Amino acid sequence: MADILVTENIAGVAMTRLRETHDVAFEPDLWSSPNLAARLADARAVVVRNQTQITRELIEQASRLEIIARAGAGLDNVDTEAAAAAGIVVSYAPAENSLSVAELVLGLLLSLARRIPAAWSDTRTGGWDRRTFTGVELSGRTLGIVGFGRIGRLVAERARAFGMRLLAHDEFLPAEVFEDAGAESVSLEKLLAESDAVSVHVPLLDSTRGLFGERQFAAMKPTAWFVNAARGEVVDEAALIAALQTGEIAAAALDVRETEPPVRGPLDDMANVILTPHIGAFSEEAQERVVDLVCRDVTAVLSGHAATSAFGIARPAR
Ligand code: MLT
Repeated sequence: MADILVTENIAGVAMTRLRETHDVAFEPDLWSSPNLAARLADARAVVVRNQTQITRELIEQASRLEIIARAGAGLDNVDTEAAAAAGIVVSYAPAENSLSVAELVLGLLLSLARRIPAAWSDTRTGGWDRRTFTGVELSGRTLGIVGFGRIGRLVAERARAFGMRLLAHDEFLPAEVFEDAGAESVSLEKLLAESDAVSVHVPLLDSTRGLFGERQFAAMKPTAWFVNAARGEVVDEAALIAALQTGEIAAAALDVRETEPPVRGPLDDMANVILTPHIGAFSEEAQERVVDLVCRDVTAVLSGHAATSAFGIARPAR
């Protein structure tokens, strides 16, 4: 019976240290196994990424559990209310991978603009067709950012350096946040109507599930690109596929999917779609920061101290 259960592939210096100094069961495939509940029932700490669903039912059976450590920012896979009711700390890393996600978004925007993946794929098979891969510049184009939290603002800062005009939509932020970032605060309708590229940066909540559907894609320009490195469930994927097939929008770059890993489907074969396997947070630097933070919290809680990054407890801005 190990004290600490790791249910996904979580690596890094801090994890190696944790495994050397503590009783850790490292079971990277456990998230998809029927044995998860039984294994969790024995643990004092569980370390997860975003695939392990820590439900109320699991929490209620986990009588020894003291801390759920989420190695990442989103808490949509953890029932935080049930954890709070059971007196279990939820530690997470809300800021540690933001920069990496923002950099990936810029990479996706540049890939859409210059068709880098298609050009690479063609060149690799002997092609040298420069004219076919004529792209466009980001400079002078309008980027619409939906959700203007930490990642949205980091994307804005970088897109501004590329000369993009910035529109942003976020109902929860005061005007000065947009002004400071050089973005115009607009309604979702205006953002969709005027943007050359729309990038999503909202968390997955009941209120954001399916935020992008038929109506939203119809409201976008036929030349627009859609970028999602937030959560797949924020988008009605069938509506997105239809919008791409009918030319309602021009292209999409998706780092996240409605179901992960996704089953093969129409998006895989579309020339105007770029797909990556939820790698926004997967830079060496971000992973070290994230894993270091949650491993420190696991060690702290198991030795009777407070977590530094517990959900629901304010911590200094970074
Ligand atoms: C996050 O929520 O931090 C990211 O989606 C990364 C992840 O879950 O692996």
